[in-house]
Amino acid sequence: MNQKINRVVLIGTGAVGCSYAYSMINQGITEEMVLIDVNEAKSEGEVMDLNHGIPFAPKPTKVWNGTYQDCQQADLVVITAGLAQKPGETRLDLVVKNTNIFKQIVRNVMESGFNGIFLVATNPVDILTYVTWKESGLPKERVIGSGTTLDSARLRFMLGDYFNVDPRSVHALIIGEHGDTELPVWSHSTIGIEPLDDFLKRKGEFTKEHMENIFVNVRDAAYHIIERKGATYYGIGMSLVRITKAILNNENSVLPVSVFLNGEYGHSDVYIGAPAIINREGVREIIEVQLNEIEKEQFAHSVKVLKETMAPIL
Ligand code: LAC
Repeated sequence: MNQKINRVVLIGTGAVGCSYAYSMINQGITEEMVLIDVNEAKSEGEVMDLNHGIPFAPKPTKVWNGTYQDCQQADLVVITAGLAQKPGETRLDLVVKNTNIFKQIVRNVMESGFNGIFLVATNPVDILTYVTWKESGLPKERVIGSGTTLDSARLRFMLGDYFNVDPRSVHALIIGEHGDTELPVWSHSTIGIEPLDDFLKRKGEFTKEHMENIFVNVRDAAYHIIERKGATYYGIGMSLVRITKAILNNENSVLPVSVFLNGEYGHSDVYIGAPAIINREGVREIIEVQLNEIEKEQFAHSVKVLKETMAPIL
């Protein structure tokens, strides 16, 4: 047997990292998963707890508390480490603090001889993905951020809930910054195979205004959750698992992740949420959908805000 053993290293065992790890072992996605945290006791405790559930998992995952040395053999390094958003704080407020933490983490990973793919989830995710790319020196295709994967899932869930349709049959996309300037791509949304506009016309009682309200709830979802429970983690954890599966299983799945634009959508030198084909190599291709004029303007605004926020740290 010459089966490839997949190894994922998770850096950061806070609530997001642990939700990811828990979801990973429950779905049996990888053979090996290494946990690393500055708080070693925390990471050790999480490993013990997760391991005790392995007999109930669909297949075994070997989980251990590791060191940066373990990154050498890793196919994927997932970073969820960093400070989290406090109530009232935007994702962009975190930029300076988390950039410094990231530079050190990425250096440590690269010193091991790591030559795989980075997946970044810490906020502000688009900027920290850029920092990871710069600091690692890896090709842009192999540095990916969670981007608007979760926002798009929220939109699909809320539309599905509203229309009483399985969210998996709702095809709707959020692009742009994972944050306050993100935008819905209504022009390319479908319910099943029917364009959203046609669906709304056919159903009469639903209006564009309802759609806008749903979008605002999607955009502000993290604030609504943080107000109530202090943090968000299950949704992002499952989004990271979805991206991990696309990578390790070489799925060529289309996902709205944070990718490096090099002329696509008329912008360059920025990491931002846009649909891309994801496989074992990372980003195979960025899909450039035709945006309408309003969407183009909103996307350009999102790029501008990200670049302005990033300027002081570069
Ligand atoms: C959220 C955090 C992960 O949107 O940014 O839930």
